[in-house]
Amino acid sequence: MLKVAAILLGLPAALAQNSTCCQALQGAGLAHVLYPNSTEYSNRTESYWSVSAQLSPYCIVQPTCTSDVVKVVNTLVAGASCSSTKFAVRSGGHTVWAGSNNINDGVTVDLGLMKDVSLDKNASVASIGPGARWMNVYAALDPDGWTVPGGRAGSVGVAGFLTGGGNSFFTARKGFACDNVKNFELVTANGEVVNANADENPDLWQALKGGSAANFGIVTRFDMFAFQTGNLWGGTATYNKSATAEQIAAYVKWTDNINNYPDGSSIIFWSYLPAMADIVILAAYEDTQGDEAPVGFDDFMAIPRIADTLRIDSHKALTDELEQATGYRDIWFTMTFANDAEIFTKIVELNEAFVNEWKATNDPDFITQCMFQSIPTVFSMHSVERGGNVMGLDAVDRNAIMLLFNIAVKTADEEAVARPLLRSYGEQMQEFAASKDGLVDWQFMNYADAYQDPLASYGSDNVEKIRAAARKFDPKGVFQTKAPGGFKISRVGTGAAGVEERDMFGNVGAEPKTAANLSDA
Ligand SMILES: Cc1cc2nc3c(=O)[nH]c(=O)nc-3n(C[C@H](O)[C@H](O)[C@H](O)COP(=O)(O)OP(=O)(O)OC[C@H]3O[C@@H](n4cnc5c(N)ncnc54)[C@H](O)[C@@H]3O)c2cc1C
Ligand SMILES: *[C@@H]1O[C@H](CO)[C@@H](O)[C@H](O)[C@H]1NC(C)=O
Ligand SMILES: *[C@@H]1O[C@H](CO)[C@@H](O)[C@H](O)[C@H]1NC(C)=O
Ligand SMILES: *[C@@H]1O[C@H](CO)[C@@H](O)[C@H](O)[C@H]1NC(C)=O
Ligand SMILES: *[C@@H]1O[C@H](CO)[C@@H](O)[C@H](O)[C@H]1NC(C)=O
Ligand SMILES: *[C@@H]1O[C@H](CO)[C@@H](O)[C@H](O)[C@H]1NC(C)=O
Ligand SMILES: *[C@@H]1O[C@H](CO)[C@@H](O)[C@H](O)[C@H]1NC(C)=O
Repeated sequence: MLKVAAILLGLPAALAQNSTCCQALQGAGLAHVLYPNSTEYSNRTESYWSVSAQLSPYCIVQPTCTSDVVKVVNTLVAGASCSSTKFAVRSGGHTVWAGSNNINDGVTVDLGLMKDVSLDKNASVASIGPGARWMNVYAALDPDGWTVPGGRAGSVGVAGFLTGGGNSFFTARKGFACDNVKNFELVTANGEVVNANADENPDLWQALKGGSAANFGIVTRFDMFAFQTGNLWGGTATYNKSATAEQIAAYVKWTDNINNYPDGSSIIFWSYLPAMADIVILAAYEDTQGDEAPVGFDDFMAIPRIADTLRIDSHKALTDELEQATGYRDIWFTMTFANDAEIFTKIVELNEAFVNEWKATNDPDFITQCMFQSIPTVFSMHSVERGGNVMGLDAVDRNAIMLLFNIAVKTADEEAVARPLLRSYGEQMQEFAASKDGLVDWQFMNYADAYQDPLASYGSDNVEKIRAAARKFDPKGVFQTKAPGGFKISRVGTGAAGVEERDMFGNVGAEPKTAANLSDA
């Protein structure tokens, strides 16, 4: 009826439905339905890490417990008032691109109030709400001398991180963070609460480990294997970019040595920082056993550095330190290549060319990172031992390095120009790696741009596993169509993740609407 009335009045159907669907959510007993005229709504919008992801849903609904999520899903999926309303799901809100975790013409389900963390020491299991940030998790566990493998920046959200795989300081010892999930609790599109673990729904358990929760339902709790730990050693070190060749040589050696030194973690990146007006090399080093600068780090330690914060400290403190600047529009790109110094060097050169090209004609207030992380074969060995995930790294038979190449800019106009430029440089990096037989066909979901296809890169067996689980637990495909955001199994091979209103470069056309814009309307 409403739809017909809206058409007769010449209004878009969604406009007529936006408020009725939000009202229906309130009517279902949900206490936290935030409208654009409220401060809470603005706060939640601003809490998306990347400005690009700060969209304007009709309302934001915040469930506080699993039974609230059931009400939300029942209303959004089966409620007459929401029959033509799309929705998005967000936990930490750290995915950088527009449309993954938020929606303009629809309702956003925000798990941010579900952030309880509890530890069962007897079972060595930490139960974590999806909306927790890793800093909440470490703050709850650290004081007791326990931890779990999680984000390396404290503000990162738990749900997206874990269902996208999750690379942590502990991967060489324990596999990806997702491999440490004992049980997922999930609300399906028909409002059922299911558990997924090694014994119960093991197909869903595997599929959620890397397959993105966005394909199956809404995860309402993660039970993770926790372990006792003391402080770690680590921090950051800063180097002049003139140390490029030594850093690359040290990193290639490091990557091949992880097998012998699984307690170490090293991330290095070439970063343009506005304060320096130049590229510097930054490194994040950790020893998860708390050994100070163990021999595994000798090659890095031998390179003269400008400054460092290396020390013994808690897991939480070391991840607080790796927090990154907010208030920018972030564009990310990922690829993986064989552990090879020639390819590595070329990528660093292309990064510098990109920075120079951008710097020549744009506002100097921008940040770039060309960040490298080892992906040795030992990572997926642990994954397999722990029940397996769907990321497909077990099919990669050589030590590799993953690249996160990104830029953070201030305005939508700059984003529109930077996006195709970053992509073209990223594709040149891929082409060079391919020309040296060193392109590894694997993309890390947590770093991928919307136009990339991480699910396809997992290999056809894994794509089929994810598809089968999505069909079984969401037979009507609600999470493929009515919740369009994120990397969808139904869009594998089509060249576009769940985005909305994009131009040919993948930009969201409209500026985010503010409360002021809405009251004008
Ligand atoms: C500063 C920074 C540091 C980072 N560090 C790391 C790192 O160390 N290692 C690493 O692996 N990655 C890292 N990342 C990437 C990060 O893991 C991803 O951005 C991840 O998606 C963040 O999780 P989130 O909960 O914030 O996700 P969101 O952006 O909220 O969600 C991601 C996707 O999952 C879906 N989703 C979210 N919650 C649920 C749910 N409860 N049920 C169903 N679907 C859901 C969303 O719809 C969306 O499609 C970092 C990112 C940033 C910005
Ligand atoms: C519905 O959307 C219109 C236009 O986007 C807006 O003016 C109105 O405030 C919205 N209603 C609610 C309840 O958000
Ligand atoms: C905000 O918008 C909602 C939905 O349109 C409305 O019910 C509420 O009264 C408004 N609140 C204020 C303070 O204007
Ligand atoms: C909004 O955020 C500000 C700043 O973080 C905080 O002081 C304020 O209490 C928040 N308001 C609401 C209503 O959540
Ligand atoms: C943990 O184990 C101890 C000793 O076996 C027992 O006394 C205690 O009740 C258990 N606690 C919980 C929460 O199960
Ligand atoms: C790097 O070294 C060069 C000289 O080799 C110097 O000019 C430059 O200022 C240094 N940069 C930083 C960030 O220290
Ligand atoms: C919304 O308002 C802001 C500030 O008033 C303005 O800069 C922006 O262009 C407006 N956006 C739209 C879509 O009208």
